[in-house]
Amino acid sequence: MKCQHIFCFIFLIFLSQKSEAQNPLYIPPTLSGTNFQLNVQSGTQTFFNGWNTPTYGINGSFLSPTLILNKNDVVALHVTNNLNDNTTMHWHGLHVPAVYDGGPHQIIEPATTWDATFKVLNDAGTYWYHPHGDGKTDLQVSKGLAGIIIIKDSMEAALDLPRTYGVDDFPVIVQTKAFDILYQIAIATEMDTAIMVNGTLHPYLDAPAQVVRLRILDGSSMRSYDFGFSNGMTFYQIGGDGGLLEAPVELTRLRLVPGERAEILVDLSALQGQTIFLKSFASELEDGIYGAETVGNGMVSIPDYGLNSLNGADFNILQINVTTPTANPVNTIPTSLATVTPLNESDAGITRTFTFAPQDMMPMSQMVEGPFTINGAQFSMDSINITAYKNTTEIWKLNNQTLIAHPFHIHDVQFFILDENGNTPPLNEQGKKDVVLVMPMETVRVIMKFEDYTNDTVPYMYHCHMLHHEDDGMMGSFAVRDSATVGIDEVGMGEIKLFPNPADDFLLVTSTAELGNNILVRVIDLLGNEIKVPAQYIQQSLQLNVSAMNTGIYFIQISDRKNFFSQKLLIQHY
Ligand code: C2O
Ligand code: CU
Ligand code: CU
Repeated sequence: MKCQHIFCFIFLIFLSQKSEAQNPLYIPPTLSGTNFQLNVQSGTQTFFNGWNTPTYGINGSFLSPTLILNKNDVVALHVTNNLNDNTTMHWHGLHVPAVYDGGPHQIIEPATTWDATFKVLNDAGTYWYHPHGDGKTDLQVSKGLAGIIIIKDSMEAALDLPRTYGVDDFPVIVQTKAFDILYQIAIATEMDTAIMVNGTLHPYLDAPAQVVRLRILDGSSMRSYDFGFSNGMTFYQIGGDGGLLEAPVELTRLRLVPGERAEILVDLSALQGQTIFLKSFASELEDGIYGAETVGNGMVSIPDYGLNSLNGADFNILQINVTTPTANPVNTIPTSLATVTPLNESDAGITRTFTFAPQDMMPMSQMVEGPFTINGAQFSMDSINITAYKNTTEIWKLNNQTLIAHPFHIHDVQFFILDENGNTPPLNEQGKKDVVLVMPMETVRVIMKFEDYTNDTVPYMYHCHMLHHEDDGMMGSFAVRDSATVGIDEVGMGEIKLFPNPADDFLLVTSTAELGNNILVRVIDLLGNEIKVPAQYIQQSLQLNVSAMNTGIYFIQISDRKNFFSQKLLIQHY
């Protein structure tokens, strides 16, 4: 494997030496309305002369169309899987019911169609969609499955902003990819030296001499960027992950980490006839961020990391040729944008801690390479890690005990950053967020509210959005439940064990704590239906008579007000 890395490194360093941008930036086509047919398919693409690279795409051989949704519309998205592999489709940043979230549990088998339908509740902004299969996200995203979602609403429509797609409002999906010696997209290598914007290598964009809007997505598997312009000009961030900020924030640098989005306004009106570059000033990234010169604080390092020419370098991402203005250009930067109402710390009913750590301390390289755990656990399809209750506000304390920075993402909600190592986040990160970077040895607190969409059996995900880390298990799940269905006694449940499993006649549920009537025990089948099972308490344990249950797979769920336990139960009659 190592040798292969070196070979592809030699090829790629050669390719990235070309400084002239020769390919017009591809602008993905749009789909709009309320009914969407998305065909996930495989194909090939010619990135390098004479070579066909196998790719994935939606309604085409590579990348995915831009979906334009209107707030408050009820939309139906039909995802047909034409691949020879399972997939899923996740609407990143959108607040949708868990069964339509497209996480690892909403598997779309080959030759089948999955229908997601939901009301668009998010504010105007830039979101995205991508597959989320258990252990398969990196491969499928890298091969091309990633697209932008633009949400429109009346608040945004009332502002004087550029919004003509492909004319003064551009999607900018930034990804680095690794190609192997046969020009196939390679996964899980640190040699992501090919820089693509909207799937275009060495891209240029002809943009009019006026205020233009860039919707930038860091859709990379691993890499973070410090965006800025070659001429040092300032620009204005108007939106983050979850929509518009209160007011434009003037910047010369914008850091984006995997999964994050930002909308920026760039005033090109004085630059007609000139060429500038959107660059990443990665030399300015701090140790620990994938893309910086070093990761591991001089103690350990990612194998081959130093061979990647992009790490710690300043490099061009998109060439912009400034052309003649359009007929009705936007020429000003607004002074205010939207009303943003952050959640209040005093409303939080519960604080949870999420500790990121390597699975093992030895070898030391696991501090930067993983596999990583969250609260000691790796992702499991069969268990739900935590329960959140409807109508409650929670603070999540993200504590990074590793030597690499992790972009932490939470499904279902948009959150606010309370503090990062005790410091207030910068202005441009004070809006709604769904990804936050947690630096090595840092603690970040975020606050969120679970408003609706309860489901006892189908969870949402939280995870590191570095796809290699996610696929390696740095992910957990949470169910949002209705507090009305559980008892009110706040008693810990202890460590719960099921015995025997598979079970035939009887199942014994035991705990290190005393199990009593303050807990709710439910048996759920794979369709989410509750199965009534006769049960009795025998001293401290609960005995379920499962003799009448059909052979098959079930989930047993045990909950009290604060805790939730879910485990796969097999019934096998001999
Ligand atoms: Cu962008 Cu859980 O994903
Ligand atoms: Cu997501
Ligand atoms: Cu990570």
